[in-house]
Amino acid sequence: MNEKLTIALTKGRILKETLPLLARAGIEPLEDLSSSRKLVFATTRAEVQLVIIRGTDVPTYVRHGAADMGVVGKDILLEHGAQGLYEPLDLGIARCRLMTAGPVGWQGSGARIRVATKFVNIARRHFARQGVHAEVIKLYGAMELAPMMNLADLIVDIVDTGNTLRANGMEPLEEIAAISSRLVVNKAAMRSRYTAIQRVIDDLAALLEADDAAA
Ligand code: PRP
Repeated sequence: MNEKLTIALTKGRILKETLPLLARAGIEPLEDLSSSRKLVFATTRAEVQLVIIRGTDVPTYVRHGAADMGVVGKDILLEHGAQGLYEPLDLGIARCRLMTAGPVGWQGSGARIRVATKFVNIARRHFARQGVHAEVIKLYGAMELAPMMNLADLIVDIVDTGNTLRANGMEPLEEIAAISSRLVVNKAAMRSRYTAIQRVIDDLAALLEADDAAA
């Protein structure tokens, strides 16, 4: 086990919105993350370090105890599973919606539909629940291109402002899940490092409550 309490974060929106929250809890990286190629950062709380990894790797690091805690989108937890993890806090950041979307005016033919997405498990579950026979095609990005190029009829993707869909002649159809970032904790670490971990959880929970009360 790493001696330090390790918190796994992801570059992009999660990092941008989590760092101010951590800073208010007294955890600030000792150097500027954005101008560094490093992946591990010491913080102002000597016993806490941050690691910067891919979002899809956060559950893996935390599940194996290589990181004690992490911040990860609910979309990733829904797609890859949350086994071995506690999910004590909804941080309410990086909010968006996981949706089906199609070309504007798209009318299903009723026959088998083709769905392009990087969320293949979520998409399979969603269409199975509806009794719709869907062929799910795995992509790694630019899902909006797939209907245009006749690779798929629909997509399942993250929608925030809806600008990406609009810019590509598409519209949102159904909401599958509301997404936000979650704090996740390794189950064994929650027992063996209870005091240190619970302190971070309590500090963050108090900040979120104060923000809610002020809103
Ligand atoms: C997501 C998603 C869309 C876009 C939606 O991609 O895949 O492309 O955001 O946002 P909008 O509704 O505000 O236009 P993201 O930027 O997270 O990058 P990714 O493709 O690497 O997931």
